[in-house]
Amino acid sequence: MRAECLVLFGATGDLAKKKLFPALYHMQLNNELDIPVVGVASTRWTQEEFKQNAVDAIRKAVKDVDENVLNALISSMRLVIGDYREPATFEELGIAVGNAALTVYYLAIAPDQFTAVTNGLANAGLASKARLVVEKPFGRDLESAKALNEALEQVVREDQIYRIDHYLGKESVEDLLVFRFANTLFEPVWNRRYISNIQITMFEKFGVEGRGRFYDGVGAMRDVLQNHLLQVLAMLTMEPPIDLSGESIQNEKVKLLSAIREVEPAEIVRGQYVGYLDEPGVAPDSDVETFTAMRLHIDNWRWAGVPIFLRTGKRMAETSLEAVVEFQQPPRLLFKPVEGHLSSPNVLRFRLGVGDGVDIQLQVKAPGSQMFTSPVDLSVEFSAAFGERQEAYERLLDAAIEGDHFRFTRIDAVLESWRILNTALKQPAALEPYESGSHGPTCADDLIADVGGWNPLHNAAFTEN
Ligand code: BG6
Repeated sequence: MRAECLVLFGATGDLAKKKLFPALYHMQLNNELDIPVVGVASTRWTQEEFKQNAVDAIRKAVKDVDENVLNALISSMRLVIGDYREPATFEELGIAVGNAALTVYYLAIAPDQFTAVTNGLANAGLASKARLVVEKPFGRDLESAKALNEALEQVVREDQIYRIDHYLGKESVEDLLVFRFANTLFEPVWNRRYISNIQITMFEKFGVEGRGRFYDGVGAMRDVLQNHLLQVLAMLTMEPPIDLSGESIQNEKVKLLSAIREVEPAEIVRGQYVGYLDEPGVAPDSDVETFTAMRLHIDNWRWAGVPIFLRTGKRMAETSLEAVVEFQQPPRLLFKPVEGHLSSPNVLRFRLGVGDGVDIQLQVKAPGSQMFTSPVDLSVEFSAAFGERQEAYERLLDAAIEGDHFRFTRIDAVLESWRILNTALKQPAALEPYESGSHGPTCADDLIADVGGWNPLHNAAFTEN
């Protein structure tokens, strides 16, 4: 059933400004937004200030704004101001929501405010007609995620909760499933017999950019590895779902995540960029990691023995989001690599961020009289093939309004991903400093040395500033 109203808690905040308002504009442009939008915030803005803020955010994020579309969106928006602990806030919200049969409540707020909001909704009689969209990270570890879920379940059922991981809204991440299960070429070799290792990298050139206070409370593992990177890994390694329903996809993801061994401290590197401690909002003696790399093991029939490497960091040499699948070397009985090239295996590279696409690295005959091999890439750029595509938040908001769980995470999958990091979070590995603009601490290279090191990143050409 389609929701009839959208409520944004945290409507004066950063997420609303950077992601949600631009997404709403695109939805309006594509005729996907035919319901009123109500913002809720504790900041005492007037209706005009609220609307102007949304207009400014949209103009900043969108090229060539269509004024009619913008006006239509802005006129459907209003703001309710109030303390999230006060019943009066929810009474006013109830009036703003009116007689909508179903409302999406998007909690773009700090996790410690979640229960105040859900209790407020329940006490005002709004919870039974609610869908709750909750931002990641869901909890801080296994115990707190369970506790948060129990608190939410006091008020709503699991099927009313939409846990956001915006990577599940990326077309490039969804493509992993299509690529694997809509092509005959890859599935037969997608296992331990043919794949030597998998590497997933999420590097960002920028640092914490004004989010120091938030970031210092989470760090790289909680901010992106527990959610974004494990979701990418699940899409890459799960068994085919029986259909594309949210339930079937989640069932396969949970099966996969539960086969991942809890990661050992010895197989984790944690780093912090030099200068992080001077960032506004960061504790002067912070032990929070801005880089992490780890080696994982999937103990199931398909993947046993195939090492999986994940790494992420801020203030890196480049911005890059890639999943690399390295195949086993064939027996090298016949050909030698051309001078200057190492004998390299076949590599499938999913470029998932800016400039997304896929590269397949193959060996071909090097020119010349000798039978030497040389690596070449078969590449596709999705933007060249398909033109402009939807942004993640547009697709996620739309899915929550439609009531489709396909692009959200289920509680058992969330708990499995916290379980994988349980020891890593309780007994953090020593923190290694690294220079801004580098590839992180050098011990992250040692972690993967036995399989030939990290495959060089490919999307430098698309690097964001
Ligand atoms: C967010 C993290 O979830 O994802 C940020 O909190 C990170 O720290 C961001 O920068 C990256 O998202 P994207 O879509 O730009 O890869």
